[in-house]
Amino acid sequence: MTLRTIDATWPFKRDSADPLLPPPQIAEIRAVGDPVEVQMYDGTKATLFTTYDQVTEILKSAHSSSDGSKPGFPYISDSARANRGSRPTIDRLDPPEHDRQRGMLAPSFTAKRIREWRPSIEATVERLLDTLEQKGSADDLLTEFAELVPANVITTLLGLPFDKADFFLDRVHRWMNDKNDPADIAQAMEDIKVYFGEVIDERTGSDGTDLISVLVRERLETGQIDRNQLIITLHLLLSAGFETTANAIALGVVALLQEPEAWRELSQTDDDEVVKKAVEEVLRFISPAHQTHIRIASAPVPVGHYTIQPGEGIIATQLGANHDPAQFPDPDRLDIHRDARSHVAFGLGLHQCLGQALARLELQVVFSQLTHRFPTMRLEKPVTELTYRTSSIAYTASPVPVTW
Ligand code: HEM
Repeated sequence: MTLRTIDATWPFKRDSADPLLPPPQIAEIRAVGDPVEVQMYDGTKATLFTTYDQVTEILKSAHSSSDGSKPGFPYISDSARANRGSRPTIDRLDPPEHDRQRGMLAPSFTAKRIREWRPSIEATVERLLDTLEQKGSADDLLTEFAELVPANVITTLLGLPFDKADFFLDRVHRWMNDKNDPADIAQAMEDIKVYFGEVIDERTGSDGTDLISVLVRERLETGQIDRNQLIITLHLLLSAGFETTANAIALGVVALLQEPEAWRELSQTDDDEVVKKAVEEVLRFISPAHQTHIRIASAPVPVGHYTIQPGEGIIATQLGANHDPAQFPDPDRLDIHRDARSHVAFGLGLHQCLGQALARLELQVVFSQLTHRFPTMRLEKPVTELTYRTSSIAYTASPVPVTW
């Protein structure tokens, strides 16, 4: 099959009249069905897949490589190249090394272990909402609330002082901003590496129960991982858990506030199942980690009646899959009653989000408490007048001014 070439650079632009929805070009391509060739910022070619079936097939294939050091890997910007290229962590390793390293982290992220976090996350969110309530309104729900939830959770998980959260937020923003200067991205990474190096040294020989102490004791001291790899792994956990979750909260609130009936229903229910379902739908609808699922074929990958050739760059966009009407009827409508569990907002296959149980729990606690505390919350600006951040792996709006 010959690929149709689209005269457009990936990522496509969103429609300012519908900023919560995927770029309209994705739906146009998906309606035809076949993959298309797009180009990246530097002229590199990649094949774009937009249907649910194509995207899930690619993510499940053992030959869809995440190794960004392979020639022709389709980066979205110089900054993304500097950012992704700067650390061979599990998100960009292939098996068997990927599986070996993921296996070291996985025991700390099982659904059972994460359930034990509920009381502490509930208490954190309650405290943050107390502060918000006292203010009477928020100029920016992202910075005044949403970012503080994962900042608290991740610092607790790693056993770090919360007063380090500003340092982390600053460095993670700089590191994940795809429009940032590559030198500044490298500096932000370096600052965090130096800090984690000091923490690892402090915890060597300790009997602490935080994740860093456990990894030092069980993996570093036993020779399963070296110091540099542990440092970059901690950096991955920090960056993967911060912006994605914060952005999902802020943009999730914006999306839910467009559906007053859904907000009202959440504010009145004590049924955990209703909240869980709503969280899955919010994740599907906004697909917060919108610039993930970029791959390169390491061997032929058959996808429908097309075969991706070795060395071919792949964009398996979750924005396409999560809004495919063949999988989710009336996909551009946020409907908290639909069963959206098959979405790929956390990816699929061997790179499926390691922190998904934790992220889900954070979002469930947040949307339940936030709607109960502020049943009359509203945006102070129309959704089309907010400023959207497209320059990160995760999509969001900031500032998000709200009152209640
Ligand atoms: C709403 C919040 C989150 C979203 C939407 C999200 C989304 C994703 C997605 C889409 C991937 C797969 C990327 C790909 O295949 O190219 C991924 C991987 C990953 N996520 Fe998350 N994530 C979230 C929260 C978290 C949290 C809280 C953590 C940990 C504290 C985390 C840790 C990771 C890690 C380590 C990977 C790499 C897994 C691997 O390559 O094996 N994420 N995430």
